[in-house]
Amino acid sequence: MSPRTRQNDLFPPRVLSGVQPSGALHLGNFFGAIKQHIALQHEYPGESFYFIANYHALTTIHDADGLLKQSWSVALDYLALGLEPNKATFYRQSDVPQVCELMWILACVTGKGILDRGHAYKDKIEKGLTPSVGLFLYPELMAADILAVRSTIVPVGKDQEQHLEMARDIANSFNHVFQTDVFPTPVAKLNEAAIVPGIDGQKMSKSYENTISIFAEDDELEAKVMHIKTSSTALGAPLNPSGDTVFTLYSLVSTSDQRDEMRERYQSGDIGYQQAKIELLANLKTYFSPFKERRRALEEDLDQVEDILRDGARRARQEAVETVEMVREVIGLDRYQRGYK
Ligand code: ADP
Ligand code: TRP
Repeated sequence: MSPRTRQNDLFPPRVLSGVQPSGALHLGNFFGAIKQHIALQHEYPGESFYFIANYHALTTIHDADGLLKQSWSVALDYLALGLEPNKATFYRQSDVPQVCELMWILACVTGKGILDRGHAYKDKIEKGLTPSVGLFLYPELMAADILAVRSTIVPVGKDQEQHLEMARDIANSFNHVFQTDVFPTPVAKLNEAAIVPGIDGQKMSKSYENTISIFAEDDELEAKVMHIKTSSTALGAPLNPSGDTVFTLYSLVSTSDQRDEMRERYQSGDIGYQQAKIELLANLKTYFSPFKERRRALEEDLDQVEDILRDGARRARQEAVETVEMVREVIGLDRYQRGYK
């Protein structure tokens, strides 16, 4: 079928999301995003695409060893946390360079005003990052990631909502300018998980240095948990579980019975913060221990991880080449040379 006559309803549901390799993954990332990614691979087997956004990371990381190390670390984290390569396509963004070509083509039909309105760009500049062209084009590259594999569902946090709106605008603009239906209109699937608090009670985030890493060693984990900020309440006085960081984190890694019991102990003054932290630490260790074991095993078999990433890239590239071929035809560029794939 000619790309000019493709209809939106011809796009099967396809999930895609990217994760930047910009530091150790923390409990906020896990409960706010990764858990949902892992669940979606079962809901959309064969139609879930997850990638390590290393091109995006270049907007902030200019250290080759660091970028490589962090990219490997995210790959191990995701596989250890349950990403199944036979259900989801998992790859490095840089193994699908077609996204860069597509980004340029899309940039030529994107009004600059769309990017000028980007909150994330403005925030990053305010925080002192150099205003590079790459940083400005960050949302354009995201749109290319999404549209290269013609994905329709993009699970992201609220902070990425505007980037998704831009991707929709960009897809629609391309379809409109070239009077085509090559691209679907992707929708954001916002995480329903509540914001996970960090050890200082603010939103857990790398930028606030208040994180608890999923794969922290036991002594680091203990130090972090014991440093969680709490209110100063006399021992034996009731504690309010609502909005309490220790209780909130405990709830995430405990059974519902354990959570209910802990709530009662809080309210009756039967537990102090010190003891609550000890119990939180124990449950954190139990919750993540199988993942840690799996990660250690994967670390011993990096060839297997590399094979998974290459297989994923092959699959994603196949989709991206197909997209770019259609796009080239629509806009009047030559087709790829035979054998390009
Ligand atoms: P950070 O704020 O540490 O830089 P990222 O922006 O890289 O984290 O987060 C990637 C995704 O993880 C976000 O889009 C969001 O969905 C999720 N996430 C991060 N921190 C939290 C949090 N504290 N609570 C819930 N979800 C979070
Ligand atoms: N910007 C996203 C984040 O920081 C990562 C990302 C890159 C992404 N490309 C994407 C997310 C495409 C969804 C779709 O969380």
